[in-house]
Amino acid sequence: MLAVEERPGAEAARKNLSVCVVDDESDQVDLTTARLQKAGFHTVGTTNAEDALQSVKTGACRVVVADVKMPGMDGLAFLERILKCDPGMFVVLVTGYYSVDAAIEAIKHGAYDFLCKPVDYTRLMKALDDLAENFTQRSQIRDLEDKLLDNLLFHGIVGRSPAMLEVFDLTKKIARHYTNALITGPTGSGKELIARALHQMSPVAKERFAVCNCSALVDTLLESQLFGHVRGSFTGATETRPGLFEYANGGTVFLDEIGETSLHMQAKLLRVIQNREIQRVGSPEVRKVDLRLIAATNRDLRAEVLAGRFREDLFYRLSSIEIRVPGLSERPEDIPILVQHFLKKYSEAYGKPIQGLTRRAQILLLQHDWPGNVRELENVIASAAITTVADFIDIGDFPEHLQNPHRGSAASDESWRPLPLEEIRRVHIQRVLDMCKGNRVRTAQVLGIGRTSLYRFLKRPANGKSAVSAA
Ligand SMILES: Nc1ncnc2c1ncn2[C@@H]1O[C@H](COP(=O)(O)OP(=O)(O)OP(=O)(O)O)[C@@H](O)[C@H]1O
Ligand SMILES: [Mg+2]
Repeated sequence: MLAVEERPGAEAARKNLSVCVVDDESDQVDLTTARLQKAGFHTVGTTNAEDALQSVKTGACRVVVADVKMPGMDGLAFLERILKCDPGMFVVLVTGYYSVDAAIEAIKHGAYDFLCKPVDYTRLMKALDDLAENFTQRSQIRDLEDKLLDNLLFHGIVGRSPAMLEVFDLTKKIARHYTNALITGPTGSGKELIARALHQMSPVAKERFAVCNCSALVDTLLESQLFGHVRGSFTGATETRPGLFEYANGGTVFLDEIGETSLHMQAKLLRVIQNREIQRVGSPEVRKVDLRLIAATNRDLRAEVLAGRFREDLFYRLSSIEIRVPGLSERPEDIPILVQHFLKKYSEAYGKPIQGLTRRAQILLLQHDWPGNVRELENVIASAAITTVADFIDIGDFPEHLQNPHRGSAASDESWRPLPLEEIRRVHIQRVLDMCKGNRVRTAQVLGIGRTSLYRFLKRPANGKSAVSAA
């Protein structure tokens, strides 16, 4: 029996380590594969280096045991290709021509170990057992992190960055006392989640929480939705209906995208905020409501006030309590736990045993600047969880613009050309539109422009070429 088999817990740990054996001699492949399988390692063997690379790409193995001299591929070149596919891969090189210099060279190039032929199985097993132990420890750490993640949840909101902890603190502090609150922050940063948390922690948590997206409706419809209407007050008003303010009386109304409302609508909202009074459309009757109002916007309302597009008095009323939710690029420390949170959510939803992300995939996510913030990150993980066929999500599972961040960017050095501004705008809008999967409302939000402006740009042909297309 091999001495290394006596290591406590070794047998269980070996099951966690998948190994790919590659050698141009099939006898050697069979022999090593059989030895490793017998010892309990999950092992596949191949005489084809490309097949081995495929296993690396799909995350089907965590360790490669490779012969250094194979036809058509030198060992070090092969090592380089493996590490290019996944820098987190462990590669044990095996050679018939051992020399200390070659071993040092291989380790310098990133090999995990370098063995000579005939293979010393005791040594190979020890190297693999060390790795298996390391993997088991890492998976135990992952379990602990999962538990920790539960503790880092604030009403379903994930955050551990100082900036988010401050947001949670402020939310907790004001939840019992506010009557009006303004939540600001870029699109997809989690404003609605904070609004819900505010309501859940308020004394009216048991009452209704009604949401109105102010940008989704034209003025007349928005007014009728919020204030209600009486029968016959406009064409189509076939019956008298209470609005959201009455529906949520006693609870909270969340006015999303308040920065998109017209000055006319703002005057009506000001009255609700100042007097807690409403009038159904077409009715002279003034009704009292007892409401908490939370408004949210991704616009800079101060700038909107200066530009004359937002009422100053409404702004001051609303912003006496303001919670600013930072964009994801201001809190990259949150990315790993958000990824963990969404991975758990989507691997459960799709019934896939996804273990995590390859190291280079993690790096790519940290390098991206996330213009669509947490929503964009969630979409990326959700679609990667669908497409992946491996236990680990890799960069190939991410959308094009993430894999090739500089491609097509007018600002990147290699592709810089002195383009007319109009053209740069066209390319940029198209990229954001693609990122938002053709959703124009979302695209306008990410671009920080109104929907009407977006439609205008979309319609405008660029130098006689066809306009930007949307799905
Ligand atoms: N900190 C977070 N933890 C977990 N999920 C989050 C977090 N922040 C945002 N999300 C998720 O991201 C998505 C977008 O969040 P939300 O709708 O609250 O953003 P928003 O700021 O209101 O966006 P918009 O300005 O586009 O309305 C939701 O699916 C939400 O569940
Ligand atoms: Mg929102």
